[in-house]
Amino acid sequence: MGVLRIHTVPGDEAFLRQRAGEVTEFGEKLQAIARDMTETLPMAGGIGLAAPQVGHSIRLVLIDVSQVERKPEEPEMPPPFFLVNPVIVQAVGEAMMAEGCLSVPGVRVEIPRKSSLRVQARGLDGSHLELSCEGLPAIVVQHELDHLDGRLIVDWAAQGCRSYREGEEKSSSP
Ligand code: NI
Repeated sequence: MGVLRIHTVPGDEAFLRQRAGEVTEFGEKLQAIARDMTETLPMAGGIGLAAPQVGHSIRLVLIDVSQVERKPEEPEMPPPFFLVNPVIVQAVGEAMMAEGCLSVPGVRVEIPRKSSLRVQARGLDGSHLELSCEGLPAIVVQHELDHLDGRLIVDWAAQGCRSYREGEEKSSSP
């Protein structure tokens, strides 16, 4: 396996629009998908990846903001992490940035998100975990969870969020 093809609109829209299924088995197959996602994300230059974006319609996301440049006053970014069957149990505050998406090339949408989250999920080994995140990682988590429900950034644009074609500025896309 290795680096996987990123599914994009319009060609893969039907697949990307599916609601992804819960993960029920934490065996070698899941580990293999996770390894492939770990290889794929940096190649694609992204900061988050949901399994449906690489052809697996399961509730698995990878968040990797570790390479994002931060200002000195900003908190250190967490190392890459996977969430299986993630559920947001608390969301507070407001945050917005121009979000891109590997599955929607060339488009940015300013989406209102929560700035601070508590998330319950499983780890890759099936263990139960609960974590807090805020700022950029929290935004990326919300973006990737949208993918698990078949929701894309263009849907937010259709609801009135400001959107534009990507210009010369080339930053990371979840
Ligand atoms: Ni995306």
